[in-house]
Amino acid sequence: MLVKKLLLQLDTDPMPSSFDAVVAYDGGADQLVSYANTTPANVESIVHGAIFTRGEKQKKNTAIFIGGSNLTQGESLFDAVQKIFFANFRVSVMLDSSGGNTTASAVVALITSLGNIGGKKAVVLAGTGPVGQRAGMLLAEEGAAVVLTSRRYERAQAACQNMAARFGVSLTPMQAADLESTQTALENAHIVVAAGPAGVELLPEEVWRQHPSLEILADVNTVPPLGVGGLEMRDKGGDRFGKKCFGGLGIGSLKMKVHRAAIAKLFEANDQVFDAEAIYALAKKIGTTVKQ
Ligand SMILES: NC(=O)c1ccc[n+]([C@@H]2O[C@H](COP(=O)([O-])OP(=O)(O)OC[C@H]3O[C@@H](n4cnc5c(N)ncnc54)[C@H](OP(=O)(O)O)[C@@H]3O)[C@@H](O)[C@H]2O)c1
Repeated sequence: MLVKKLLLQLDTDPMPSSFDAVVAYDGGADQLVSYANTTPANVESIVHGAIFTRGEKQKKNTAIFIGGSNLTQGESLFDAVQKIFFANFRVSVMLDSSGGNTTASAVVALITSLGNIGGKKAVVLAGTGPVGQRAGMLLAEEGAAVVLTSRRYERAQAACQNMAARFGVSLTPMQAADLESTQTALENAHIVVAAGPAGVELLPEEVWRQHPSLEILADVNTVPPLGVGGLEMRDKGGDRFGKKCFGGLGIGSLKMKVHRAAIAKLFEANDQVFDAEAIYALAKKIGTTVKQ
């Protein structure tokens, strides 16, 4: 019998992501089965279909990918799916709401490819989204003192509390709603990750160009205007005004490799759990050659 590699795409949004569908096939799935509006309340029968259908040896050919635009919903679904597993009635599962885990893993792997960041101050601007939360967490796990900003202090605080609860890391919430508060957040900073939405400039060039302590700038935004003024999308560790710079496409090429590799890995065994840390380990393993 020809056993196909089946990926169940459990999306928390009304329309399952086409981006995740393309990468599922490019990562090695033979067949994608997509579910919209998936929640902890309606996921049990889908998971039962995944865990009860194939024997021990073939179970690794079924896997689950959890996506969608809302990280909180994705995390709840990820937790709910794992609670349904028991004994060896389980399949490998990956969480990547809005590409947050794969993108954050790529950006932090690129930053750390330049050297140890232990003891450095890293600021994640607009860090309350899926990419920002996970990037802040990974930077903290690498030993940086991380400040995570939002336009509203309470949102920054909630994101930091979420990362503390899930990963045991301590991030400092700050409000950065305008140029002045952004400059305050950047005092004595060495690293900036701009994790805001497409087409919103968070950090103008004149603020960072002469900044006395900043060493590395990374911006995940790929839609002009970019999140960090004066960067180019294709920047991949090159020097601008004495600072190493990474743009959205420079980060994106590694993100795509990591995403595809994680999908491929899902089918290697039936008991793997891919959240940010496992995906980050993969990103570091894939390795990064930093070139402009
Ligand atoms: N390069 C790549 O390969 C790649 C891959 C995936 C995603 N991305 C990009 O990564 C970025 C982050 O994605 P995400 O899904 O984590 O972001 P997101 O959730 O859409 O946005 C992140 C945060 O930005 C803040 N924000 C929203 N509108 C704003 C505005 N007008 N001004 C300032 N801040 C604003 C919000 O925080 P507050 O409301 O708390 O202030 C929001 O939580 C996006 O630009 C996305 O396109 C890049």
